Amino acid sequence: MAKALSEILADDVRAALTAVLGDAARGADPLIRPSDHADFQANGVLPLAKAVKGNPRELATRVAAVLAPAAGAAADAAGSAEAGTAAGAEDAEAAAETVPTSGVIAAVEVAGPGFLNLTLTAAALAAQAAERLGDPRLGVPPTAVGRTTVIDYSQPNIAKEMHVGHLRSTVIGDALVRLLEFDGRTVLRQNHLGDWGTQFGMLIQYLVEHPEARPARAEHSGEAAISWLTTLYRDARVLFESDTEFADRARKRVVTLQGGDEESLAAWREMVEESKRYFEDVYARLDVRLVDADAVGESFYNPYLAEVAADLEKRGVAVWSEGALCVFFEDIKGPDGDPVPLIVRKSDGGFGYAATDLAAVRYRVNTLKADQILYVVDSRQALHFRMVFEAARRAGYLPADVEAVHVQFGSVLGTDGKPFKTRAGKTVRLIELLDNAVDHAVATVEEKNPGLPAADTRAEAKVVGIGAVKYADLSTSRTKDYIFDLDRMVSLHGNTSVYLQYAHARIHSILRKLPAGTEVRVHAELALEPAERKLALHLDDFGATVAAVIENFEPHRLASYLYALAQTFSDFYENCPVLKAPTDAVRENRAALVELTGETLKLGLALLGISAPDQL
Ligand code: ARG
Repeated sequence: MAKALSEILADDVRAALTAVLGDAARGADPLIRPSDHADFQANGVLPLAKAVKGNPRELATRVAAVLAPAAGAAADAAGSAEAGTAAGAEDAEAAAETVPTSGVIAAVEVAGPGFLNLTLTAAALAAQAAERLGDPRLGVPPTAVGRTTVIDYSQPNIAKEMHVGHLRSTVIGDALVRLLEFDGRTVLRQNHLGDWGTQFGMLIQYLVEHPEARPARAEHSGEAAISWLTTLYRDARVLFESDTEFADRARKRVVTLQGGDEESLAAWREMVEESKRYFEDVYARLDVRLVDADAVGESFYNPYLAEVAADLEKRGVAVWSEGALCVFFEDIKGPDGDPVPLIVRKSDGGFGYAATDLAAVRYRVNTLKADQILYVVDSRQALHFRMVFEAARRAGYLPADVEAVHVQFGSVLGTDGKPFKTRAGKTVRLIELLDNAVDHAVATVEEKNPGLPAADTRAEAKVVGIGAVKYADLSTSRTKDYIFDLDRMVSLHGNTSVYLQYAHARIHSILRKLPAGTEVRVHAELALEPAERKLALHLDDFGATVAAVIENFEPHRLASYLYALAQTFSDFYENCPVLKAPTDAVRENRAALVELTGETLKLGLALLGISAPDQL
C-alpha cells in the first residue's frame, strides 16, 4: 500500500526538524499543504520556532539544509525565482548523514517568514502512480479493520410515501456505508422503519372494517402498493377525525395489537410487507445497498421498552414529572426558560420515539457490538439526538469508547427556494421523481450520442439520471439545504455526475484508441510537464481525500476532489498529447496517467454509490 506523497514529506520534514531541534520537535505536525510555488509547502516550522523561541527563517534554513543538500545547492546555482534562501551545501551534508529521508525531495526553498517550499522528483511522482495503477484500492490502505459501525439510515414510515428527507438519508447513508467498508470497517446497516405507534390502531381498524380498501387483484409493484396504502391512510384519518365511535374502536385496536392479537398483527404485517415492497422498489431504482434484512424497525424494540424505562428510573436517569417519565438536562431549556425533557414514557402509559431510540442504543452496543453508531437523519431532529445520546451516556448504555454521531443534513428545496413539494403542496412521490430524473437524462444522452437506439438511450439515461440525483445531494455540503433542480443536475457542464461520467467514458475512449502494442506503464526516468505533474499530484491525493471524508462524514469533499480531478485531467489532455505523444515512452507514461485518472474517477464515484460505465 502506498503512502501519499504528503505523508512521506511529513515524515521527512519531521525527521529533519527532530535532527535540528531534538526532542522539542518530536510529535510536531510539519503542516504539509499544497503550494502555488512548489509541489507542497511545509508550514510547521513557524509554530515550532515560536515554541522554542527561535528565529523561524533560521530554523527553516537549517531544516532545508538537512532535507535536500544537493537540491538546495542546485536551486541556488540556478538563481531560483523565489526570494528564498537555499541551504548551504556543507552543513547540510554533515546533517544529512544522520537523517534518513525518503529521497522524494528534489528541491527545498525557504520562503516568506519561514515556510519551506518543497519540490518532488519526477521519479517519486512516477513511483507513486506506478504503485496505484492497477490496484483495485489504488494503493489506499484500509485503516479501520476490526471496527464496527452501526448506521441508521433511510428510515421511511409504513403506509406512507417516502419524502425527499428519506431520499437524502438513503443516499448519504449509502455513500457512508461504501466509504466505511472501503476503510475496512464492518458496517451493519439498520433501516429504522417507522412501523409502530398509535396510528396503526386507526389503520388496522379501518382495514378490518373495510376489506375492500385493498386492491382488487394482488398487484405487486411498489407503486401499486404505496398507492392503496396512501389512500387507506387518508381515508382512515378522515374517519378517525370525523367519527368518534370509530376513533374509540381505533384506540382499542392499539391495545389489542400490543396485546398480540392475531387478527391485528396480521393486518399490521400486511401493511408492513406492502410498504416494504414499495421501499424496495425505490431502493432498487436508486441502486443502494439496503436489503430486506437491514429492516429493523421501531417494532423490534417494543419488547424492551418497559424494561428500559424501569431501568432508567432505577438508575435515577429518568424521573416522573406531570405523570410522564422524563429525562432532564441542565442546559436544555425551552423559550420560556423551563427545562425541555426527553419523554421516555407518556402520561397515558405509552412509549414514544425516544424510548425506542434508547432501547436501540443498548441493542446496538451490547448485541451488535458497535464502536460507532451513526444516525443519518435531518437536522431538525438534532435536539432529539442530543438528548438521547446524553441520556444513554448517563445510563451507561453508551460507554465512553463508543462514538454516537447524528450525521445531520439540511432540507431539499424547490426551485422557488421553499420546501420541495408538488404544485398542489403535497409530498413529491419518490418513484415519480426518479422517473422524472431519468426522463430528463434522456435528453442529455441524446445530445451526446444522437444515433443511439432508443433502448440503449433509456438504459444510459437510467445511469445518468439516478447518478445525477445522488450526486446533486452528495456534492453539496451535507448540513446545507439544496435546491432540487433537474435541469442543473443532468447538465453536462459544471459539478455534476454527468460531467464526471462522461469524463470517465472519454478516458476509456482514449485508451481504446492507443496504437496496438502500447504498454500502459509508468516510465520513471522521464521528466514531467507541469500539467503532468499537477495531474500526478492530484491523483496521489485520493487516499487523503477519502480519509478526510470518512473522518467527518462529508461525501461532498470527495465530489469536489473528483470534479477537480476531471478538470485537471482536461487541462493535462489539452497540453500533453497522448495519442500523438513525441515518443513511445512518453505515450506510455501519459497513458498510465490517463488510466489511473479513469480508475480514480470510477472508484471515487463508486464510493459515492454512482456507477461510471466505460462507454456512454
Ligand atoms: N422514521 C423517522 C422519520 O421519518 C426517522 C427515524 C430516524 N432514526 C431514529 N433512530 N430515530 O422522521
